[in-house]
Amino acid sequence: MPQNNHSDEYTLDQVINNLSGTSNRMTVTEYNKIGEGAFGTVVEAVLNYTDPPNNTEETHGPFAIKRVPAQTEYKSRELEILRVVNHPNIVSLRFFFDKKSSIDGKIYQNLVMECLPSNLQSEIKYYRQLKYTIPYPHMKAYTFQLTRAMLYLHGFGISHRDIKPSNILVDPSSVTLKICDFGSAKKLEPNQSSVSYICSRYYRAPELIVGCPIYTTKIDIWGLGCVIAEMFLGKPIFQGQSPELQLKEISKLLGPPPKTFYFKSNPQYRGNMYQNKLFSCSVEDRFKQIFSNSPPDAIDLLLKILVYDPDFRASPRSVLVHPFFYELKKENFKVYPRGASEPISLNLFNFSKYELELLGPLKDELLKSSE
Ligand SMILES: Nc1ncnc2c1ncn2[C@@H]1O[C@H](COP(=O)(O)OP(=O)(O)OP(=O)(O)O)[C@@H](O)[C@H]1O
Ligand SMILES: [Mg+2]
Repeated sequence: MPQNNHSDEYTLDQVINNLSGTSNRMTVTEYNKIGEGAFGTVVEAVLNYTDPPNNTEETHGPFAIKRVPAQTEYKSRELEILRVVNHPNIVSLRFFFDKKSSIDGKIYQNLVMECLPSNLQSEIKYYRQLKYTIPYPHMKAYTFQLTRAMLYLHGFGISHRDIKPSNILVDPSSVTLKICDFGSAKKLEPNQSSVSYICSRYYRAPELIVGCPIYTTKIDIWGLGCVIAEMFLGKPIFQGQSPELQLKEISKLLGPPPKTFYFKSNPQYRGNMYQNKLFSCSVEDRFKQIFSNSPPDAIDLLLKILVYDPDFRASPRSVLVHPFFYELKKENFKVYPRGASEPISLNLFNFSKYELELLGPLKDELLKSSE
C-alpha cells in the first residue's frame, strides 16, 4: 500500500456485496485520493473482511471508492445502473454503503469499484508530452472496447450522457478499457423528454447544444467520435469557449449545420445558426486536412460518426464491423503494452449471448477472421 498520503481507517457493520446482495462487516483503509470531481471524491482503498469459504479475515483490493452526498428525494441513478450492468468494458461495482461524514455530519453514498490504474485523458496526455500519440493498435483496441460497452448499454436503452476521456478508465499494462462515472447516466424511453444540459461541453452532441428535448443514445456515439479524434490529435477536437461557440467549432469540420437539423432537433432554437461556410473544400477533404496524419480507415470511421443528424450517425454495431478494426481480428494479433518486451494477446471478441443478439446478422461479419 503506498504511503504517500494519510490513511484513514474505519470499520462498518453492514457493507452490501453487489454480487451476492448479502452484507458483511468490513474495515476500510483509504490511502490515496485519485479523483476529485464536480460531485464527489474518489479514493483508493483496501478492505478487510472474512470471505465465507476460508473463514479468515483477509485484505482485498485495491478498490476505488467513489463518495457522493446521499440522495434523499430520489434514488441514485449511478448506483441503480451500476447494480444491474455486467460487462467486461464497464467498471464493476463490488460493494456499497452509506456513511456519515465526520467532517460535515452529512450522509454520503460510497460505491466500491474495481480500481484501474489510469484513464484515457492521462494516457493521451502522457503520449502528447512525448510528442507522440497512443500507438495505433492500442487506439484500435481501446476504441473497440469502448464501442462494445456502448452496444451493451444502448441495448438496454441506457445512455451514459458524459462520455469523455476522464470517464474512461484504462489499464495500459493489459490494454483494457472500462467506462466509469455513471453519475449522469439514464435509461432513455422513446418519446420521453430529458434535460439537454448534460455532457461536458467539448463532447456534447450538436442536438444537445441546440436544446433538443427528445434525444437518443446517439449522443454517446458523438462522444465516441470526439474521443477517437482526441486520441489521434492529442487534444480535444472541438474546444468551444461557450456552449453556443461549441457549435461553431463543430461547423469548422462538418460545415454549417443544415436548416433541417435545427428544425428536427429543436424548432424553438433561437441562437446563432452558424450558416457561413468556413472552408471551401468538401467535408471529406476537410477531414483529410484536419486528420492529416491519420490512416484513411480512421478518417472514414470518423466521417460516419461525426454526423449532425443522429439518425444518420453510426450505431455501435456498425462501428464494430468497420474496417478500422480488421487488424484486431487477425489470428496472430498481439500488442506491446507500454514498456513491455513481450507482446500480449487481447480477448476482445468474447461476446455474450446478449451481445450476439444485439449484433444480429452483423455477428457473422464480426466474428469471421479478416485473413
Ligand atoms: N474505478 C476507478 N478506478 C480508478 N480510478 C477511478 C475509478 N473511478 C473513478 N476514478 C477516477 O476518479 C475520477 C473521478 O471519478 P468520476 O468521474 O466517477 O467522478 P465525478 O465526480 O463524476 O467526476 P466529474 O464530475 O469530474 O466527471 C475519474 O476521472 C478517474 O480518474
Ligand atoms: Mg467524471
